[in-house]
Amino acid sequence: MKFFIDTANVEEIRRANEMGIIAGVTTNPSLIAKEGRDYAQTLREIASIVDGPISGEVKATTEKAEDMAREGEEIFALDPRHMVVKIPMTAEGLKAIRLLSAKGIPTNCTLIFSANQALLAARAGAAYVSPFLGRLDDIGQTGIELVQTIAQMFSNYPDISTQIIAASVRNPIHVTDCALAGADIATVPYKVLEQMIRHPLTQSGIEKFKADYCAVFGE
Ligand code: E4P
Repeated sequence: MKFFIDTANVEEIRRANEMGIIAGVTTNPSLIAKEGRDYAQTLREIASIVDGPISGEVKATTEKAEDMAREGEEIFALDPRHMVVKIPMTAEGLKAIRLLSAKGIPTNCTLIFSANQALLAARAGAAYVSPFLGRLDDIGQTGIELVQTIAQMFSNYPDISTQIIAASVRNPIHVTDCALAGADIATVPYKVLEQMIRHPLTQSGIEKFKADYCAVFGE
């Protein structure tokens, strides 16, 4: 399983990229709005930092397929080597995915909450599907089961090349579960990447090595 970072904060993206742990970035309108910067400029800057797929979502105000496809072309044009157009899972969204994929523009179908939605998006031509496990957990459903079901479903059909991006990842246990469930990618907030790095025994081990070394050899 690869990692994408789920943020529009360029400092977090730079830090994760320097560690060599991320293969791409996902954003959404809420994440970009949180940064309070220009939408297109933020995506362009992100694409200049990470050499991998960067998901930029059509604005939530766009609902018609043709409008989403037009906006998707603009997002793709920001950096055609990296940009992936994120489209919400609706009937109009599926049409937009079809229109964009016919032009060779990769799409990420977002807000996936059922296995059938994922299968439809794959058949419409989405390069990626994003099942949101944390938001399912929030309403008392077991989000990871959705990732497992989609992975099993896609593996039954070798002609499906759509990759599964496990999204709405909220903690390190989600990450382990996604890898075991067969997600191709987990998109993870910076805070969760930090939680994955740290372990109290690693920290106490470093402190003991340092104390033992300094006791004999000095600072
Ligand atoms: C990623 O594609 C999604 O935008 C993101 O993971 C949503 O996460 P949230 O449910 O924590 O907002």
